[in-house]
Amino acid sequence: MRKTLVAGNWKMHGSRQQTAELIGGLAEALGDDPANEVAVCPPFVYLLDAARAVEGTPIRLGAQNLAVEESGAYTGEVAGSMLRDVGCYYVIVGHSERRSLYGETDELVAEKYRAAQRDGLVPILCVGESLEERESGVTSEVVERQLRAVLTAAGIDSFAAAVVAYEPVWAIGTGRTASPEQAQEVHALIRGILASESATIANSIRILYGGSVKASNAGDLFSMPDVDGGLVGGASLEAEGFAEICRAGG
Ligand code: PGA
Repeated sequence: MRKTLVAGNWKMHGSRQQTAELIGGLAEALGDDPANEVAVCPPFVYLLDAARAVEGTPIRLGAQNLAVEESGAYTGEVAGSMLRDVGCYYVIVGHSERRSLYGETDELVAEKYRAAQRDGLVPILCVGESLEERESGVTSEVVERQLRAVLTAAGIDSFAAAVVAYEPVWAIGTGRTASPEQAQEVHALIRGILASESATIANSIRILYGGSVKASNAGDLFSMPDVDGGLVGGASLEAEGFAEICRAGG
């Protein structure tokens, strides 16, 4: 049985005060033993505050990005070991904003995925097609290419300690959510690709949906057979609403 995971991707939002308020409010709304697993991914500079705020709560901490390198002269970069050191469990890799705005290629994303695991973090690997790609009917090819880049670099066994997030780019921050059926179709494709290499791993891996998830649609999305939770952007910035999403499908 896969445990539903809901992860909040704060992106470049927040402040020290909001970090404390948001996590405090979320912890209170969730209680000690939520049915689903919950994680928050604040910006780097707030991770330490966030780590203190999640202490003694069931909320896990994640980061939004990491360096490929282990340490050294890489000005402005943050190593996975540092993220571990401040209490991170997860790290998002290959988010479409990193791919499209910061030029992260499939190969670089695969390197970051490997770096995350090397440094003891669980990568949340994001894949997903653009609107143009969906409209030209190449969604499966794009998602498969993105997934295979990581499979080739890291191998199927690595997916025993990873999470995949399907995030159609056209649904991110647009208010335009994929329908539960559209999500299910791609989630099944992802699980099928993994199953062709290991049925056991494909069966146990969580595949999250991301893209305009909100309290009003989370239940329908998470009830699809291959949707094991969500990666939530905008709606993770408000404690009560996010807590409601965290309770969906639990
Ligand atoms: P959104 O973002 O929920 O604001 O659409 C999701 C994401 O980018 O992870």
